[in-house]
Amino acid sequence: MATLLRLERVSKIYPPYIQALDRVDLEVEKGEFIFISGPSGAGKTTLLNLIFGLERPSSGRIYYAGREYGRLSRTELIRLRRKMGFVFQDFKLLPNKTVFENIYLGLEILGVSPSEAYQRVYPWLRRLGLAGKEKARVETLSGGEKQRVAIARAVVREPELILADEPTGNLDPQRTREILEILEELNAEGITVLVATHDESLYRGRHRRVLTLKGGRLVEEDV
Ligand SMILES: Nc1ncnc2c1ncn2[C@@H]1O[C@H](COP(=O)(O)OP(=O)(O)OP(=O)(O)O)[C@@H](O)[C@H]1O
Ligand SMILES: [Mg+2]
Repeated sequence: MATLLRLERVSKIYPPYIQALDRVDLEVEKGEFIFISGPSGAGKTTLLNLIFGLERPSSGRIYYAGREYGRLSRTELIRLRRKMGFVFQDFKLLPNKTVFENIYLGLEILGVSPSEAYQRVYPWLRRLGLAGKEKARVETLSGGEKQRVAIARAVVREPELILADEPTGNLDPQRTREILEILEELNAEGITVLVATHDESLYRGRHRRVLTLKGGRLVEEDV
């Protein structure tokens, strides 16, 4: 199997001196499904932000398919980011836009025409229980609905890598199971998935690789 993602001694220090990540080593094979666990403040979001290239490490190196982020131009980094789908913990939906417009956004940059986008977005709206909500402005949605729009926006492009930050944090147990099943189905189709969560019940019994952040260090759990 090919290595998709590699982190070498990656540290992130926020001023004045908050060590969010401390010499993290991580190797992710193409097609893996990994949970990143750890309590609130453990550095999960920081780790995903670094992988997405939204922030730069204070030291250490990150490689995607063998290419080191520090050597990429801004344009190359943006192009690389298009291979990934990020489900943000705080959703980052565009206000004053509809559910459809928010989900379509990621397809538009890929050059997908509006009519083709329609074909791709609608099955996801149904699958995520958002059918009938496509014309609703996102600020009128409940927290759980917003979360599902954020998930739809990330998965509709069928990216190579999905980074999901606490993707079920606002959902009831039934929806939580459904979202996990969707992520597992996408993974079965070959998409690599990283899910960050503080919720142990999410990965209990799933027989997946679990990595835990403790004091900024990443530790592999025996499951
Ligand atoms: N932009 C920032 N500036 C300063 N400190 C930050 C910044 N972002 C994160 N931190 C700090 O880094 C540490 C890790 O934060 P992070 O958001 O990665 O944790 P987390 O594991 O995602 O937590 P949660 O489960 O609450 O989402 C925390 O101590 C946090 O306060
Ligand atoms: Mg977080």
